[in-house]
Amino acid sequence: MSSAMAWKKVAWRSPSNIALIKYWGKYGRQLPRNPSISMTLKNCYTDTEMEYRFGNVSNGPVLDFRFQGKHDEVFAARIMHYLDDISAEKPFLKNLEMRVNSSNSFPHSAGVASSASSMSAFVLCMLVAENQIIGVEKDMDDFLREASSFSRLASGSAARSLFGGYVIWGESAFIPHSSSRFAMPVTEVAPVFQRYRDAVMIVSSKKKTMASTRGHKLMEDHPFAQERYGQARVNLSRMIEILRNGDQMGFAELLEHEALTLHALMMSSIPGYIEIKPNTINIIDKIREYRDKSGVPLAFTLDAGPNVHILYPEEDKEEVIYFIKHQLKDLCENKKWIDDEMGTGPERLL
Ligand code: DP6
Repeated sequence: MSSAMAWKKVAWRSPSNIALIKYWGKYGRQLPRNPSISMTLKNCYTDTEMEYRFGNVSNGPVLDFRFQGKHDEVFAARIMHYLDDISAEKPFLKNLEMRVNSSNSFPHSAGVASSASSMSAFVLCMLVAENQIIGVEKDMDDFLREASSFSRLASGSAARSLFGGYVIWGESAFIPHSSSRFAMPVTEVAPVFQRYRDAVMIVSSKKKTMASTRGHKLMEDHPFAQERYGQARVNLSRMIEILRNGDQMGFAELLEHEALTLHALMMSSIPGYIEIKPNTINIIDKIREYRDKSGVPLAFTLDAGPNVHILYPEEDKEEVIYFIKHQLKDLCENKKWIDDEMGTGPERLL
């Protein structure tokens, strides 16, 4: 393991995900206070290419980080902090030099959460480099589980981006072997939920008022914290049941309840803060009105920001896109929205 080697290259594409049952509150080493479930996306992803060389430095890691070809010191500092955090588990990093270039499929300014896709893509590259350096070939299940666990340490929601379809992170009595340390796919899914779509209405591309990490921290002294963790557990088991039995209206009701609860928790934090904008509410009103009138089981959810994700079945695609173009687009910033769908998880590019 000590002799110097030539530069080698690896690249991964890793997707973003949208939580159906939200992770909000953590403890210890990035362990979630409650289990969460997400849907993996397809068109919103990060491509990360890593050139690496082992054995020429002894006080590493040395990192040259670029975003879309340009040096990004803020993101580089975040990665260095992360690498420092995992140095005991990954001693090979001391001797590693990396030249990383990362790019997102969605516009940087779209306000779409990117830490899940970018951190998981980085971790996938790093672990391939490690395995190559130490000469180990892991089977895919073990590799993805380790990648999920190390992605979690970088950003909680990134743990879920390693798998396609619906993904659970955190312990639930209803999913055998589920764990707070890594995520795993939810495999029992009714046909109607196997081809779902997500249209993301960009209400604002500005930075959120409060970074998620600070939002999680505010849950520590939150007046409703214990109540929320208990409720999230119940909601998660209901969601697992709904995904199994194909109850689309039940899905819509629970999805929206989780989204509004997340934002209610932010508003009732101490100090309280507001991430939704007037057009978030205008879009929500229109979605509910349209669902009531048309019977199409579309439903909204929100991540920690103001943008609205509309989840709906593939078979209603034409109708829903018509509705977006005629009633929602004008409420989006620069009429911007992203047409996405359920994806199959990360893909190795090199
Ligand atoms: C509201 O994963 O961004 O999107 O672990 O501090 O990086 P860190 O937080 P992050 O939190 C995501 C919060 C959420 C809900 C969710 O994705 O489950």
